[in-house]
Amino acid sequence: MNEQQRKQANQIKQMDPSDIKSETDSNLERIQNTDSEALINKYFQTTYEPPNLKKAKKRRREDVEIHYDYAVPDNMKGIGKGKKFLIRTYGCQMNEHDTEVMAGLLTDLGYESTDDTNEADVILLNTCAIRENAENKVFGEIGHLKPLKLENPDLVIGVCGCMSQEESVVNRILKKHPFIDLIFGTHNIHRLPKLLQEAMFGKEMVVEVWSKEGDIIENLPKQRKGKIKAWVNIMYGCDKFCTYCIVPYTRGKERSRKPEDIIQEVRHLAAQGYKEVTLLGQNVNAYGKDLDIDYGLGDLMDEIRKIDIPRVRFTTSHPKDFDERLVEVLAKGGNLLDHIHLPVQSGSSEVLRVMARRYTRERYLDLVRQIRTAMPNATLTTDIIVGFPNETDEQFEETLSLVEEVGFESAFTFIYSPREGTPAARWEDNVPMEVKKERLQRLNKLINKQSAEAMAKYEGQTVKVLVEGESKKNPDVLSGYTERNKLVNFRGPKSIIGEIVDVKITNAKTWSLDGEMVEHAAEVK
Ligand code: SAH
Ligand code: SF4
Ligand code: F3S
Repeated sequence: MNEQQRKQANQIKQMDPSDIKSETDSNLERIQNTDSEALINKYFQTTYEPPNLKKAKKRRREDVEIHYDYAVPDNMKGIGKGKKFLIRTYGCQMNEHDTEVMAGLLTDLGYESTDDTNEADVILLNTCAIRENAENKVFGEIGHLKPLKLENPDLVIGVCGCMSQEESVVNRILKKHPFIDLIFGTHNIHRLPKLLQEAMFGKEMVVEVWSKEGDIIENLPKQRKGKIKAWVNIMYGCDKFCTYCIVPYTRGKERSRKPEDIIQEVRHLAAQGYKEVTLLGQNVNAYGKDLDIDYGLGDLMDEIRKIDIPRVRFTTSHPKDFDERLVEVLAKGGNLLDHIHLPVQSGSSEVLRVMARRYTRERYLDLVRQIRTAMPNATLTTDIIVGFPNETDEQFEETLSLVEEVGFESAFTFIYSPREGTPAARWEDNVPMEVKKERLQRLNKLINKQSAEAMAKYEGQTVKVLVEGESKKNPDVLSGYTERNKLVNFRGPKSIIGEIVDVKITNAKTWSLDGEMVEHAAEVK
């Protein structure tokens, strides 16, 4: 979007909320009679420049602007009073956290949240583009929402998140789902109030997706899910461009938040009584590289370590940038937990090379040794893709042997899914689906075995559990996670929810532990 187009988008008509009712009929008319071609022509040839993956790849050297001045637009104050919103989230923690920000923005406008689509006045789908099946789920949901919109034309339905950064997705929505009111991209979240206003009062679908990125918007309101664990962005975007991955295009270039802004947020969370923070970024080990100061993730963790919050995690690490300084700081322990999620993707140096991961099997194993020397009890988990183009049986066997050698205690495992616009999508997807499925099964079997073995070692041990609430399966049972991120179920009073308690493990399963709470006798002074 160029300057003039942005200005146009900024010039939002100020309308009287009483106009909303009279919009209903024209809204319905739009849904039923949209001329899709005309709509697409209008958007793509006039005011709207579609998201463009090629453009998204052009990283500019321009400075990152940081804005601290977010405020609810005056004419939007109270606009959501008596109304409800629902946000469905797909994808990673980054998206979950973006949902918290959008929930914060909507709450600031007066909206309340609901889980019931029938009650909602605004429904947003915060989407993920990482694999084809993630996208299919969203299109399925869009189909389900259509009857609701026909029943209630005043309902505003929006699509945001990573899929909206893809031109093909925007095109498909314009063509096949014209009842959608609003599409906005990952760089446009802070503009939600204004875009919502346009969608409510305008007669056409509102589309605003910027390919250009570069800004960091601080001080956005957040409606966090829960009062025990919190997410904190430390950086946005990714510059790694692994050949299979869509994220660098959908999330833009790497931009680090200033250390002082992050530290202030963590301090604030600690003061509010949060027990755990997870520092978020697509490649947290690149933190600080774009700042003008000589400061990296290790330095940041060393400062956060001193904040009075019991648990600090971070995700996701990239092996290439995982440096000695970080290992040295993590080894200091305290609130820095010795669980490291270190995606490897493949155990074959050749596959890693074509994936453009920028490390070899040997380098990865060296890093693991380094981590284990500094933190002998560290738990390692990973992400793995099977069936990458040209992956041979032997190369897959190398992945299995690496999994064994490292002793991963769990892993997210995926079948390769070509993503339009990425380099790998131009290569033949030539591993047959049957073979991919068989590889995935073999890999999962091995991971399950290693997980069960790691769990079995906890039998008889006492672990510290941050109690998160009632177990999903049984409300009489409480559940929470250990420092090394193992799920523990045990019986105890509801009053300890949000506390860190000692639990003695009585029974280990493949993915969880059962235990009994250890009652400490009151200390006599
Ligand atoms: N930034 C993180 C991961 C982000 S995506 C990292 O670099 O590790 C989460 C996981 O999805 C990746 O680790 C990878 O295993 C998987 N993934 C990404 N693109 C994929 C694709 N096209 N097909 C299958 N899996 C994919
Ligand atoms: Fe994707 Fe690679 Fe960036 Fe991770 S590091 S988000 S896998 S491009
Ligand atoms: Fe998906 Fe976007 Fe996250 S593609 S994995 S939601 S960064």
